[in-house]
Formats: sequence, C-alpha cells, structure tokens
Amino acid sequence: MTRKADFDIDPLFLERWSPRAMSGQPVAEADLRRLFEAARWAPSSGNSQPWRFVYARAGTSDFDRFFGLLAQGNRPWCARAGALILLAARTVNDQGKPMPSASFDTGAAWMALALQGTKMGLVVHAMGGFDAERSKVEVGLPPEVVPCCMIAVGQPGSVEDLPEPYRSREQPNDRKPQATFVSEGKYTTGS
Ligand SMILES: Cc1cc2nc3c(=O)[nH]c(=O)nc-3n(C[C@H](O)[C@H](O)[C@H](O)COP(=O)(O)O)c2cc1C
Repeated sequence: MTRKADFDIDPLFLERWSPRAMSGQPVAEADLRRLFEAARWAPSSGNSQPWRFVYARAGTSDFDRFFGLLAQGNRPWCARAGALILLAARTVNDQGKPMPSASFDTGAAWMALALQGTKMGLVVHAMGGFDAERSKVEVGLPPEVVPCCMIAVGQPGSVEDLPEPYRSREQPNDRKPQATFVSEGKYTTGS
C-alpha cells in the first residue's frame, strides 16, 4: 500500500517504516554514529538521557552473539543486517532514584534514530522478539539497565532475496484513524 496521511505532516513520518529486505552490506561505523547522534538529542525527563545503545557490526563475533539472542522469526531476515543494536534503558538517576519515565524517554531516542536512518536511506527495524533475559548477561547490562528492544540496521536489499513469509509481507502498513486514539476533554476513544 501507499501510505497517505489524513492531515498535513512532513513526508518523513510516512517514509519511515520497518522493511526486512537488507543487502548484507556492512553499515559504516560513521553512519552508526550519525544514528546514535540523532538519538542523543531526544528529549528526556530532567534531561536524564536514560537510553543505552550497545551495537554489533556484521562480520564480527559480537554480531554472532547478538544474532543468537534473536527470536527464530527474526533470524532469516536479520542474517543480512549490517548491524544489530540492543537498546536498553537506565531505570535510575545518578542518585539511584527510580526514573519511571526511562522507557518512555528511550522510546523517543529510538524514534529519533529511526527517522535519522530513514533520512540516510537505511533500513531501521525494531524488534521485541529477542531473549531479553539472556541479553542482560550476554551484553553485560548492570541490574538497573533494562533491555527494551533490538534494532536491525542495514543497507536496503531486494525483496526477491527475502524468504517467505517475509517476502509477501514486505510493504508499509497502515494506521487506525485519529478517532480511535484522540479525544478532547475526556477519554472517549474506548479501550
Ligand atoms: C518495540 C517494537 C518491537 C517490535 N518487534 C518486532 C519483531 O520482533 N519482529 C519484527 O519483524 N518487527 C517488529 N517490530 C516492527 C513492528 O511490527 C512495526 O513497527 C509495526 O508493524 C509498524 O510498522 P512500521 O514500523 O513499518 O510503520 C517491532 C516494533 C517495535 C516498535
């Protein structure tokens, strides 16, 4: 489908989507740094900046370890990723006080990274399908840092190289209308 906005927005919001077709080419370290830089400028509660990124580039033993954390359903297409990133959130502030907004703020950082990747013509695809418990050990997260998602980043590839069922699913999806999630004054959108 072709995405169409109901109101006038920047095309970047429609252009960002989550493809799976990647070429297997590496993503340059400098390009990864540009993605993390976009994330760096995300807003956060008290400017606490709770996001934590740990990355592994294709062709390294780190990549193999990260790949091994992925759910089976994410492996066939992630084999051609240029990098895998674990995104985690630090749940306490520098004084050790709980930061309830940590995952909210980390989500903002993810979106900044995703939009920057879209601008750069890269595939950026978030995944909840990974072994979060094992990732803590494998990546060495301290107890106060919780895994949020894995992110596949890559150079775009050809859809024909994707195995089924991914190939036939390889197109941008749609969204529910605003009436299902926006209301004025009182919550009227149902559950
Ligand atoms: C937190 C999170 C977890 C996700 N987990 C997976 C996943 O495990 N595998 C997958 O193929 N896509 C995953 N996705 C991608 C979503 O399916 C996708 O973002 C959603 O369908 C909206 O499509 P779009 O990103 O193309 O706009 C995830 C996205 C997010 C934000």
